[in-house]
Amino acid sequence: SKRWILMTTAQTPTNIAVIKYWGKRDESLILPINDSISVTLDPDHLCTTTTVAVSPSFDRDRMWLNKKEISLSSDRYQRCLREIRSRANEVEDEKKGIKITKKDWENLHVHIDSYNNFPTAAGLASSAAGLACFVFALARLMNVKEDLGKLSAIARQGSGSACRSLYGGFVKWNMGKNDDGSDSIAVQLADEKHWDDLVIVIAVVSSQQKETSSTAGMRECVETSKLIQYRAKEVVPKQVADMEAAIKYHDFPSFARLACSDSNQFHALCLDTSPPIFYMNDTSHRIIGCIEKWNRAEGSPQVAYTFDAGPNAVLIARNRKVAALLLQRLLFHFPPHPDTDLDSYVTGDKSILQ
Ligand code: PMV
Repeated sequence: SKRWILMTTAQTPTNIAVIKYWGKRDESLILPINDSISVTLDPDHLCTTTTVAVSPSFDRDRMWLNKKEISLSSDRYQRCLREIRSRANEVEDEKKGIKITKKDWENLHVHIDSYNNFPTAAGLASSAAGLACFVFALARLMNVKEDLGKLSAIARQGSGSACRSLYGGFVKWNMGKNDDGSDSIAVQLADEKHWDDLVIVIAVVSSQQKETSSTAGMRECVETSKLIQYRAKEVVPKQVADMEAAIKYHDFPSFARLACSDSNQFHALCLDTSPPIFYMNDTSHRIIGCIEKWNRAEGSPQVAYTFDAGPNAVLIARNRKVAALLLQRLLFHFPPHPDTDLDSYVTGDKSILQ
């Protein structure tokens, strides 16, 4: 019968790089020119929820993002769909009397409903959570048996940073050496319990969509920046090794110095691009100024900052006490507009304000 429908829902948090991925050596497979390291956010806060459904009554693949239908025709979605479909296995739901054979998957279509609980494409790594969730939910629906490493290589082909969102805690994306991308996968460095004193506060400076997508920004940067290859080859390998050690030993001062300088270096590459790309704005710069001043006054870093391809600040406080102070200072220096609902202004764990 054509009446059955089978569905599954998955939730994937976003991740924030503390050593940035910037620049591809292969645009279609999305192979990077350097390793990167990220921290995956708490799934309760910034995350994507995706429900995927399959039914013989669906006549084509369709997708909705934040309740609006979007096209699935872009390469990134097509690649991920193809890779997952080719690994689909038999699925049986005895209660519903449904059996889908390996062969059936070739002709069945899916509907995908995805929702971000945070601004899309505003430099909050929405594509990371989105594509990771897309791949993970489809893999579950289609009973794909591959491990997370293999799934990360598939998610990578949707959006580079997505490969890091399949794991919690601290994650490293190995750039890999192979031309086919088989070793360009994400691995977990430490799980979410390893360093749970850290508190991440995201200051949404602007929820507008960015002007230059990370794809276009990276391409222009690789083509025109004289510094980018130097960073990838000479600077990042040591930064990655030092960051791994800082994470392993809970060394917050090193962690903060590395994260801040790596973020600033990434934005320096953007300035070194022709024409230059400005992801941060005056408010971002003022936030950097405040944190630098604070860290210097304390004699040792209390808060790390990092900015992706947008003006929003990701601030990592060394513990809850510092996070509470940070929130008070942010609200003092950057008061929200009187109409702002404070609940949505302060993302994440609000209990630290009490
Ligand atoms: O994966 P993309 O195309 O969204 O690029 C992400 C680039 C940065 O967020 C700036 C850095 C990173 O490593 O996530």
